[in-house]
Amino acid sequence: MKRSAIFAFLLFAAACLVVGCNGGTVVNGYSTYTGGNIRAGKALLQAYGCGACHVIPGVPDAHGLVGPPLYFWSRRTYIAGELPNTPDNLVKWIESPPSVEPGTAMPTLGVSQQQARDMAAYLYTIR
Ligand code: HEC
Repeated sequence: MKRSAIFAFLLFAAACLVVGCNGGTVVNGYSTYTGGNIRAGKALLQAYGCGACHVIPGVPDAHGLVGPPLYFWSRRTYIAGELPNTPDNLVKWIESPPSVEPGTAMPTLGVSQQQARDMAAYLYTIR
């Protein structure tokens, strides 16, 4: 490999460590990828009891096995096997799962759009 290519790769890897590889940066705790606040999202995931049904790395008491574990969330391709894993689709899913997949076991929990953005911001920090 050429020296410049190695340098470019290292620069890319360093940028990934700082801001993540999925296109966002973090400004004052807000992810530009989702428009949500990462810390608030973590607290909301706990407050809404998402962990009763999901394993969510980093969220206290999130050990539920009713739904799929949310390991490696930023690297997942699909949401519930239905939607491409993009921030807008994740927000839509969290706000109203049955509107995406009628009959799904995940309930509508009354999460507002901004709260869903905050939760999404946290979930995309899970690599
Ligand atoms: C009553 C149990 C339950 C609760 C509470 C719950 N979920 Fe789910 N969730 C599920 C189930 C079941 C699925 C799988 C749905 C499907 O594929 O149809 C799911 C799917 C998901 C997925 C997609 C997972 C994947 O592998 O594609 C995400 C993301 C998610 N839930 C986030 C949340 C968030 C955020 C909350 C809290 C606001 C939450 N869930 C609360 C049961 C739950």
